[in-house]
Amino acid sequence: MEYNAKDYGEVDSWATTLLLYNSALKEVGTKLEILNDEFQHIHQYNPIEHIKSRIKTPESIVRKLKKRGYESTLDNMIKYVNDIAGIRIICSFTSDIYRIAEMLRNQSDIKVISIKDYIKAPKESGYKSYHMLVSVPIYLSDSVVDTKVEIQIRTVAMDFWASLEHKMNYKFERNAPEHIVTELYECAMMVSELDAKMLSLNEEIQQTVATEKENSQTT
Ligand code: GTP
Ligand code: MG
Repeated sequence: MEYNAKDYGEVDSWATTLLLYNSALKEVGTKLEILNDEFQHIHQYNPIEHIKSRIKTPESIVRKLKKRGYESTLDNMIKYVNDIAGIRIICSFTSDIYRIAEMLRNQSDIKVISIKDYIKAPKESGYKSYHMLVSVPIYLSDSVVDTKVEIQIRTVAMDFWASLEHKMNYKFERNAPEHIVTELYECAMMVSELDAKMLSLNEEIQQTVATEKENSQTT
């Protein structure tokens, strides 16, 4: 379906809405940069590998509303489409995911609307990721608007897997050959094993470094 500005009523309010979601992305993006910098300062390492953010395209918003049986109105989009502003945080280790989620949760201006932990409970496909739906206050000249942002936090390996699986779904439109689905599921298991192994190796390396530091200080 083609995007048509008329679908959103006043173009002016569509523009305002876009401004809000863009501001929310900026706000959460800055919060994450600060957390990452502080972490680097204290622990000499970055929990965040990289961050991707995007605003959902109007076509995709309209498609989602239609799929769920809602009319394409500005009100419906604000109410029912939770991932208009989306931020994806890619970490090295699973432990970093929970650390970042906790740090965000503890910020008093962030309201957590819902959490979906697909790491503890992966999807049937094998999909793993930690999803947080939050809202952040955006200060306009004469009002404060709580604006929703969908945050996905995952490891590099989980991200690698999810992008291939996404490609498969896009290509086959949910009718992928059985063996591809099965093999991708097996890959998801390998991703979990890899993440667990890398985490324990990293812990061992950190411990060795810490012990050596202690020893050099006492001698
Ligand atoms: P939508 O998936 O956005 O319709 O909403 P939902 O209520 O199902 O939310 P959920 O938290 O399950 O998924 C939100 C987003 O996570 C999606 O838009 C995708 O970006 C991602 N995602 C969820 N499930 C999968 C999956 O099985 N594979 C891949 N590759 N990505 C997924
Ligand atoms: Mg979904």
